[in-house]
Amino acid sequence: MADKEFDFSKYVASIPDFPEPGVIFRDISPLMADGKAYSEATDRITNFAKARGTEMICGPEARGFIVGCPVANQLGVGFAPARKKGKLPRETVSVKFQLEYGEAELFMHKDAVKPGQKVLIVDDLLATGGTVAATIDLVEQLGGIVVGAAFLIELEDLHGRDKMKGYDIFSLLKY
Ligand code: PRP
Ligand code: ADE
Repeated sequence: MADKEFDFSKYVASIPDFPEPGVIFRDISPLMADGKAYSEATDRITNFAKARGTEMICGPEARGFIVGCPVANQLGVGFAPARKKGKLPRETVSVKFQLEYGEAELFMHKDAVKPGQKVLIVDDLLATGGTVAATIDLVEQLGGIVVGAAFLIELEDLHGRDKMKGYDIFSLLKY
């Protein structure tokens, strides 16, 4: 049972000027290192996933795996990874996009999601929304139905939600 009062902010480290000046890096390592905090976070996202009839979790490399895989496991559904360049050995779909600090490209195997499958995107953090928008694009290229996106952290000043109009978004912590 998820604890409604749990204070997740105690488990996020804020590091100024990483990886470049002006960025405050929100590090989830302390949350991952604490069994209770990690499982509370997993429970909350699992509840969001259940309420939306999720049949598959999709997470972008690498922190999306850390947050998404335990949710998939708890829900009893599969996990579809969206990976960086040069990692997937079979036929892929791909999309290029902008990050808060740099440019990136993500790939998924063509059979990672079945047409019509209800997919929840899970990641550690929503910043500009470039990563989640790209991941949604990949899932939809494969014919999946995106039922929403869930994050541990949302950086409100970067307005990532604006890139996701019409999608249901959940975040545990807002900065
Ligand atoms: C981080 C984070 C999100 C993304 C959020 O991943 O884990 O996936 O940035 O930023 P956005 O909303 O502006 O796209 P990063 O690309 O740093 O990769 P990592 O998970 O491998 O560290
Ligand atoms: N990914 C994009 N922006 C980030 C930030 N400020 N902290 C941690 N991860 C990020």
